[in-house]
Amino acid sequence: MGANTVASCSLAIVAFMAASFLATVAVVAASVPAVYVFGDSLADVGNNNHLLTLLKADFSHNGMDYPGGKATGRFSNGKNSADFLAEKLGLASSPPYLALSSSSSANYANGVNFASGGSGVSNATNKDQCITFDKQIQYYSVVYASLARSLGQDQAASHLARSIFAITIGSNDIIHYAKSSAAAKLRNPSQQFVDSLIQSLKGQLQSLYNLGARKVVFLGVGPVGCTPSLRELSSTKDCGAEANAMAVQYNKAAEAVLSGMSAQHPDLHYALFDSSAALLRYIDQPAAYGFAEVKAACCGLGDLHAKIACTPISHYCSNRSDHVFWDFYHPTEATAQKLSSTAFDGSPPFIFPINIRQLSEI
Ligand SMILES: *[C@@H]1O[C@H](CO)[C@@H](O)[C@H](O)[C@H]1NC(C)=O
Ligand SMILES: *[C@@H]1O[C@H](CO)[C@@H](O)[C@H](O)[C@H]1NC(C)=O
Repeated sequence: MGANTVASCSLAIVAFMAASFLATVAVVAASVPAVYVFGDSLADVGNNNHLLTLLKADFSHNGMDYPGGKATGRFSNGKNSADFLAEKLGLASSPPYLALSSSSSANYANGVNFASGGSGVSNATNKDQCITFDKQIQYYSVVYASLARSLGQDQAASHLARSIFAITIGSNDIIHYAKSSAAAKLRNPSQQFVDSLIQSLKGQLQSLYNLGARKVVFLGVGPVGCTPSLRELSSTKDCGAEANAMAVQYNKAAEAVLSGMSAQHPDLHYALFDSSAALLRYIDQPAAYGFAEVKAACCGLGDLHAKIACTPISHYCSNRSDHVFWDFYHPTEATAQKLSSTAFDGSPPFIFPINIRQLSEI
């Protein structure tokens, strides 16, 4: 028996090793290979640097806390939500589409970021100053075709189905509405305006599904009425109630769109982040979350540092970790990091029906 036992024994070991090797491969294969990012300045990592636009952040003091202390086009003192999402997934932040597409050896399989400061659900929002959401989807359809060519149709579909599609859109539409004239609001009541945004959003999300998106992270609109820019409009420096109410309505309606889509398409999974509820906690109980200043921007000039944008000549605060807002519209890196942690590992009512970690493990 001797030699035979040794042989079958080592065969068993080989079989065991092969099985555990396959198991390791299976875990890696089930994880997220790439992130495709869409949306506005909350996720722009440099697309607007390539545009002729006023909506730019590729100058100081932006980026002062970014590795190397340099302005990259992110509307932040440091990293933004797109960066933290990638970091938590163990990936490099997806590069800006307009930087990739100008290179001859563009690799779209490691993720692409289409987000552009100023964009909204409506293609009329900051028209000509940004890559509109519709245009971002059009660019993505080019990427989709390129992946199908390079990987083959089936392989590309499987790659995209495992990837995360992160979307942050809607803030600029609501901010524009809140700042529009009383006459304009009378012609287009806020409920009707939000309904029209949701109508467009539905078509846009369906387009992404049709182009292979199966794991969607939707970051809802934050309490934009509390941005220094909108607070500054009120004599009492209170949050703009109308804009905050619209954000709540919008997030609720976006949830209805996504749950309807996933009922219709059982292979579609999503995690929706209620940025409004999550961020209002910091504003209502700053100390509990490590914040000292929730009204004024860190960088800017004038009342609440919100009259004039963050530019090289603007004042900036010494402690960026205790301010909720970096400039008149955007959160600090500290805020983005805390929100991202809740979106990744948190629970309802902030992130639902599942969190991003659970979505990534499907
Ligand atoms: C903008 O949106 C409207 C309404 O959804 C649509 O009719 C129009 O074609 C869009 N324009 C562009 C340039 O995409
Ligand atoms: C800055 O703020 C953070 C968060 O509140 C705090 O932990 C830190 O001690 C502050 N740093 C300084 C130098 O005050």
